[in-house]
Amino acid sequence: MKKTATLTFSDGSPSIELPIEQGTYGKPVIDIRALAAQGYFTHDPGFTATSSCNSAITYIDGDEGLLYYRGYPIEELAYKSDYMEVSYLLLHGELPTAEQKMAFVQSIRHHTMLHDQMENVFRGFRRDAHPMAVMVSVTGAMSAFYHEDMNIFDPKQREIVAHRLIAKVPTVAAWSFKYNEGQPFVYPQNRMSYAENFMHMMFSTPCEPYEPNPVLARALDRIFILHADHEQNASTSTVRLAGSSGANPYACMASGMASLWGPLHGGANEAVLKMLDEMGDISRIPEFIARAKDKSSGFRLMGFGHRVYKNMDPRARIIRETCYEVLDELDLRDDPQFKMAMELERIAMEDEYFISRKLYPNVDFYSGIIFRAMGIPTSMFTAMFALARTAGWVAQWNEMLSDPAHKIGRPRQIYTGSTRREFVPIDRRGA
Ligand code: ACO
Repeated sequence: MKKTATLTFSDGSPSIELPIEQGTYGKPVIDIRALAAQGYFTHDPGFTATSSCNSAITYIDGDEGLLYYRGYPIEELAYKSDYMEVSYLLLHGELPTAEQKMAFVQSIRHHTMLHDQMENVFRGFRRDAHPMAVMVSVTGAMSAFYHEDMNIFDPKQREIVAHRLIAKVPTVAAWSFKYNEGQPFVYPQNRMSYAENFMHMMFSTPCEPYEPNPVLARALDRIFILHADHEQNASTSTVRLAGSSGANPYACMASGMASLWGPLHGGANEAVLKMLDEMGDISRIPEFIARAKDKSSGFRLMGFGHRVYKNMDPRARIIRETCYEVLDELDLRDDPQFKMAMELERIAMEDEYFISRKLYPNVDFYSGIIFRAMGIPTSMFTAMFALARTAGWVAQWNEMLSDPAHKIGRPRQIYTGSTRREFVPIDRRGA
């Protein structure tokens, strides 16, 4: 028999029976939709206890430290797959056959270049514009290039949108960096892998040959896999909400990027490096640890703890290993700042305060260190996250529009404003 929950009222109003839904995994969910017809809304700012959709894409168990894409554990994908395959998996629900993968990679390669006119959009910015400001704008501007003939209810057209976004966002990200640097834009090189091509657009110049380091390219590809999706977080929910009205998908992705840019979401890895810069020397670690433990200081150790994972974030375990591989490859284990970061990690992981509160180093702690080691400036860190998350955003947008029962998102509110009052003409106000 299907479980239900009964809502009773202290004023003797008739109780309401609500169905309880159970997904493949996860907590049971009380379906409250019947409440509106009974004259009630529910209140849950921050959506801490509210499910907004059915989704078959990603599953997280924060207590157990599990992350699955389409049922596959993140560890399996990170070590045995690559970002192209993972993007295909997120979009289509299944890993590709060799033939399907070849066709997918071919299609992504076919779409890597930006419309030539887009260069003018970049050139409208100040040279010191934050890369995320440029990414939000240029991705949004794509809506002007692909709008008139778009039918988002046609699955084939949605697939083209997905391929275009996965292909072009790395070009947009790399060009945001090049524009900051005052270097010429570098065109995509389609003989390279996805990660190598990104490195080429970031680091090569027309003056000399450039060959991406395969260890760094593999590390980057792994970081892209780890960041590809994370179910209904703020930016993904923003993409879904914007897309629920039938809006242009490129504009929806820009809205997701805007949400990701916030320091509480995609900006944390930037905060880790700022903290390490402030710390400056290994000798100051005890001082920072003491400040983090002192509640009155208002200071937290950046890169430690997670809202959902109360066990080690499975992504952090993988990226930690990748971080050491990158530092070894670049011979940076003895670099004072990286030594300091590794010592901070060691001390915090042995400290009773962090152990008892389950405050493990998170994915942002290591991604920031890797990006800096690779020569990617701090201001680009969130852009890297946006690049990797594009596959997840577009898969979630596609899933929403594929559902014939999807509705425009429209939360309710508790109105706390004034009661009804009469309009006062301006000459009688303030009297
Ligand atoms: N440094 C020191 N103490 C911490 C830290 C930290 N980084 N994080 C949590 N705590 C302490 C809190 O003070 C609290 O202590 P108390 O029980 O003695 O009062 C306890 O640990 C629980 O903290 P909460 O705030 O309840 O944990 P919450 O789940 O709300 O916060 C968060 C999670 C926001 C990520 C937090 O750990 C934090 O601020 N970390 C630093 C910023 C950071 O690295 N963010 C990236 C998150 S990963 C991501 O977004 C992809």
